[in-house]
Amino acid sequence: MTPRILDVGCGINKFAGAIGIDNNPRTKADVLCDLDHFPYPFRDNSFDQLRAIHVIEHVADVIRTMEEFHRLVRNGGTVLMETPHYTDFSSFCDPTHRWHLNSFSFRYFGQDDAGFGYYSQARFRERKVRVKLLALWRYLGFELLVNAFPRFRRFWEYYLCYVVRGKVITFEFEVLKTPE
Ligand SMILES: C[S@@+](CC[C@H](N)C(=O)[O-])C[C@H]1O[C@@H](n2cnc3c(N)ncnc32)[C@H](O)[C@@H]1O
Repeated sequence: MTPRILDVGCGINKFAGAIGIDNNPRTKADVLCDLDHFPYPFRDNSFDQLRAIHVIEHVADVIRTMEEFHRLVRNGGTVLMETPHYTDFSSFCDPTHRWHLNSFSFRYFGQDDAGFGYYSQARFRERKVRVKLLALWRYLGFELLVNAFPRFRRFWEYYLCYVVRGKVITFEFEVLKTPE
């Protein structure tokens, strides 16, 4: 069966085969809606996959938006997100960015919640986190190390990233829902 895909904040680069939503009528959106007004106009569990590419940094409330993503995607479905790392030029250059995130910014929805799991009841399993670094650091092998070893990624976020700067972070989450 063809997967049901929602491209949130699709802009002009809507993912092939997806339903696109955006608030800008000059985009490829199939449905115009404001991501800061809930609920979005779809039923619970309507999608197998949700994509939010360079979007989460624009919304008013990250936690509430993640909860809405969780509602829209079926148990075991996928949420894919891409966002600038806060040390990249692009993170602060765009005045419509409200949030400046790192590769641990979504841990509060998973097991590694640092004691802050009470922020939300929505649960996601982190399948993949990938960080792209600025080209120089990629050529010197830092990107490989950051992505191969989660402990090194943490070390990089703590101590190195203001010099060895990040560019983009990609997250793949599995939606976890308790059966009714
Ligand atoms: C940086 S663009 C990314 C577009 C596309 N995902 C891509 O990768 O090319 C951010 C998109 O989010 C949309 N957006 C931002 N805030 C929004 C909101 N509150 N409601 C709906 N769409 C919003 C913008 O209109 C824009 O199309």
